[in-house]
Amino acid sequence: MDSPSFSSDDVARLVEAAATVAGAAELTETLEAIVETAMDLTGASYGALGVLGGHGFLTEFIHKGVDPETAKRIGAPPSGHGLLGTITRVAEGVRTDDIADHPDSVSFPEHHPPMDSFLGVPIRVGDEVFGNLYLTNSEGGFRDGDMANVEALAIIGGSAIANARTSRRLRTVAVVEDRERIARDLHDAIIQDIFAVGLGLQALAGRLGESEAAVEIRDATSKLDDAITGLRRFIFDLRPPVWAHRRIRDELAELADSLAEPHDAEVELLFRGEVDSLPERVTDEILPIVRESLSNALRHSGATNITTSVVRHADRVVVRTIDNGDGFEVEAANNGMGLSNLRSRAVNQGGFAEISSSSGSGTTVEVTLPL
Ligand SMILES: Nc1ncnc2c1ncn2[C@@H]1O[C@H](COP(=O)(O)OP(=O)(O)OP(=O)(O)O)[C@@H](O)[C@H]1O
Ligand SMILES: [Mg+2]
Repeated sequence: MDSPSFSSDDVARLVEAAATVAGAAELTETLEAIVETAMDLTGASYGALGVLGGHGFLTEFIHKGVDPETAKRIGAPPSGHGLLGTITRVAEGVRTDDIADHPDSVSFPEHHPPMDSFLGVPIRVGDEVFGNLYLTNSEGGFRDGDMANVEALAIIGGSAIANARTSRRLRTVAVVEDRERIARDLHDAIIQDIFAVGLGLQALAGRLGESEAAVEIRDATSKLDDAITGLRRFIFDLRPPVWAHRRIRDELAELADSLAEPHDAEVELLFRGEVDSLPERVTDEILPIVRESLSNALRHSGATNITTSVVRHADRVVVRTIDNGDGFEVEAANNGMGLSNLRSRAVNQGGFAEISSSSGSGTTVEVTLPL
């Protein structure tokens, strides 16, 4: 194989093109410099560079030499049939003295300036073809060394495109992670806090009977409810589309693992029915309900076995936690907030909670939420 011979002038221009790639803020700017350098090096009157998207269509098309008026009259950029398609498909350079003579060539669209000599190379990184770089109408045809020069430029172009894609991906990931974090913080910390304050106020209003203060407090709690609704909507909007499909199984498994970790009890999670497609508002309730009933069983019951199940029926979902612990007197247990929060969550969703417990045989907490 003969090694391509670069003149010192060519090398200087290639280095310049590489420097432009390193310094350019915009991909388009870089690709324009590459096309110009290629025309310069080969003496071509026209040059173009097409970038392909994942689906094989052009996502960017840069051309030089055809004046804007004519380009407008020609219309759509080349579709990638014919010779250009051959370059990307075969992933090899093509050089010919007359395009029309090439077996793969197709006719030019109307208004297209006449073109004869042609040199085109694929732009690729590794095995993946990202596009093509091609030149036409070099006085006296393209020379032997031109292919190597243009290939070198195509390599520079390929790395510029790959870099731009990577940094776009990284930026997207950063945004998604940021949004997820903000949504979680809002949900886990702020909404729960507001909710707790609301419950406290409701209890206070209950004790104040029908006094003016009680009316004002109830008014305030309903404003808090509105605030929570607003926040939930905001959080929902923050979530990138992937969140639309939350894996409640994964989230509950993670929750159960972390709650059970410091205890000896065996915890089992069961799912039945289409639980992964539950509406967001229901999933949002199931998690804190399980958190409460499971942590109660772990902390208070002395159980060796606890089973939490989520069963989806056509019109409702039933979340049940059963332990084989000591049991307790449900009516008398009013020392904590947990169970009353759990009941209000159920009622707020139009559902209900049933707690049955007997000393010696353990406790069942069952929450039914309508769908
Ligand atoms: N599964 C259970 N087994 C035995 N006792 C329980 C169980 N669940 C609740 N209890 C009893 O009922 C009481 C009230 O429960 P609740 O969840 O309302 O409050 P808490 O767990 O004590 O406090 P908080 O939930 O506010 O952190 C508990 O203190 C405990 O005595
Ligand atoms: Mg509790």
